[in-house]
Amino acid sequence: MKEKTALITGVTGQDGSYLAELLLSMDYRVVGMVRRTSTINFDRLRHIQDNIEIVQGDLLDQSSMMDVVSQFQPDEVYNLAAQSFVPTSWQQPVLTGEFTALGVTRILEAIRHVRPSARFYQASSSEQFGKVVEVPQKETTPFYPRSPYGVAKVYGHWITVNYRESYDMFAVSGILFNHESPRRGLEFVTHKVTHAAARIKLGLQDELRVGNLDARRDWGFAGDYVRAMWLMLQQDNPDDYVIATGETHTVQELCEIAFARVGLDWKQYVVIDPRYVRPAEVDLLIGDPSKARSKLNWAPAVSFYDLVHMMVDSDLRELQDEIRYGWHQPKKSTDVMLDKTVTGSLVKTEPGTQK
Ligand code: NAP
Ligand code: GDD
Repeated sequence: MKEKTALITGVTGQDGSYLAELLLSMDYRVVGMVRRTSTINFDRLRHIQDNIEIVQGDLLDQSSMMDVVSQFQPDEVYNLAAQSFVPTSWQQPVLTGEFTALGVTRILEAIRHVRPSARFYQASSSEQFGKVVEVPQKETTPFYPRSPYGVAKVYGHWITVNYRESYDMFAVSGILFNHESPRRGLEFVTHKVTHAAARIKLGLQDELRVGNLDARRDWGFAGDYVRAMWLMLQQDNPDDYVIATGETHTVQELCEIAFARVGLDWKQYVVIDPRYVRPAEVDLLIGDPSKARSKLNWAPAVSFYDLVHMMVDSDLRELQDEIRYGWHQPKKSTDVMLDKTVTGSLVKTEPGTQK
């Protein structure tokens, strides 16, 4: 008999898979909530799928949340599910609000009615700081979100605080800065760049189209960040924490390091494409993780440089395997598929970044 049961929403996502691994290693019973899809999307869980229990539920559906919580009576609930890609939030702002904002209330309501003793973790985001009013950003920095996604996350953050204060629930928000890994979705800039560098090296692609090279992010490794989620739920009192490395880097630096790893000069291959520039940008994120360091005894183990190398190496290995084992169509990102539909007249390149 396992001592503790954890419910993870968004278990098929990047963080869900790392968190499930961590909790299994600590002998938790791990229940992953998945939504119905037309094809199976357990790629990130393949190595642990026999050790976790999967249950169907959807953040859009209140009764499914109630049923899941009632059936498994979890001790800890990690709400990682969301529409998490910022550009999509301008294309689908209402849906983003339903998943990423109201979805949090639905799961909090399920816990309040069915299992009020469960400890709750909400995946808050550095996107909430948006057009930053303080550098570096810490727990007390005011929010100024710059996308429908950021706005939805601010709602999720405050509803979590509100349920803690209204109902005395153990509910916490982790304000996590960008974290990446070889399991990152291919549309996010780190993986887009490392995957493209590997594909170009192998002759599968000629160029990489990106948006704003000057944007700065505080990038860490997802494996380090899920440890912080768990630590937040082991404290005596519920509280909110910033999780970050305390370093910031530009998208251009990311390109330099990734292409250099495969022996290429990024300037020869990277093309600015205005389609990837956002209607409102978050220019600079850099977190101050001092509170997490002192109260949770948490610190990141993987540096930005090592993270980029880890991702490039993994992409190269995977693509080489795909070629070796005769998959004549190695994996492409949505962006690469999308680029094929671009007409020349839409594309404006900038001097110095032209191929
Ligand atoms: P991700 O890879 O995009 O995973 C999102 C997960 O949410 C997927 O499992 C997805 O399921 C699920 N999901 C989406 N809509 C759902 C719905 N209506 N009902 C049930 N499940 C649904 O995201 P991630 O990078 O692991 O991030 C995890 C969480 O942390 C997200 O809430 C994200 O916004 C937040 N966050 C991420 C970062 C970061 O840098 N990674 C930083 C701060 C906060 P499918 O597989 O079916 O699509
Ligand atoms: N995706 C993408 N694609 N981003 C690009 C590109 C491109 O071609 N070119 C430049 N960028 C810039 C974006 O404008 C942004 O400033 C930065 O790269 C990072 O973009 P993403 O990797 O898409 O991540 P994000 O910062 O918007 O959002 C991620 O981190 C948040 C935490 O701050 C997501 O994981 C969110 O879910 C998360 O909350």
